[in-house]
Amino acid sequence: MTAEAFVPEGAALDELRRAVQDCRGCPLYEDTTQAVFGEGPGDARILVVGEQPGDIEDRRGHPFVGPAGRVLDRALGAAGLDRSAVYVTNAVKHFKHRPAAPGKRRIHQTPDRTEIVACRPWLVAEFARIRPHRVVALGATAAKALLGPAFRVTRDHGVPLPWPASAENPADFPSAEDAVLVATIHPSAVLRADDRDAVFDGLVADLRAVPKV
Ligand code: URA
Ligand code: SF4
Repeated sequence: MTAEAFVPEGAALDELRRAVQDCRGCPLYEDTTQAVFGEGPGDARILVVGEQPGDIEDRRGHPFVGPAGRVLDRALGAAGLDRSAVYVTNAVKHFKHRPAAPGKRRIHQTPDRTEIVACRPWLVAEFARIRPHRVVALGATAAKALLGPAFRVTRDHGVPLPWPASAENPADFPSAEDAVLVATIHPSAVLRADDRDAVFDGLVADLRAVPKV
């Protein structure tokens, strides 16, 4: 199970964005509206990786445009980072969810390791085009996709790590020289928290650990 055969070699971001709609690299494309590819300037210096599109992203076709996206925008702003200068994508390009009752919002399901690995060729292709100076992993799924299954966001968030030297497969992630990765919580954790302000502040503090570039 892998997206490999569906990723056009050497393609530009726009071409990749078109091609991902035909991906059958894992079963997650079934029962979705569309694949959601990354977005942002092709010359972005910062690449932000989330988990997978949510209900709203699946309908609209753009990453982080729902409630978690609003938290992300606010947190980036509070940390002095401008969303419009950042390339934002997800580890998995199709929305994994439980079927919902008619008219109800579909409930997100965490992608598993096989799906993350299957979808990785798309993420690798995005790295090859962007060659980021800074990488931000939002939450456990993104962190595991980039750093391997043993990485713990709860323990190692907000710490700049040499990139891609810290990656599970460094050769997979073309990046600028002296690049750095910072892992943090997923913005949706803020929405689920009892103390939203404190969790939001933690997210912002982690984002401030991203060295200026
Ligand atoms: N959560 C994510 O991880 N990515 C999105 O695009 C939206 C919500
Ligand atoms: Fe392809 Fe990724 Fe969608 Fe699976 S989740 S079908 S690998 S784009």
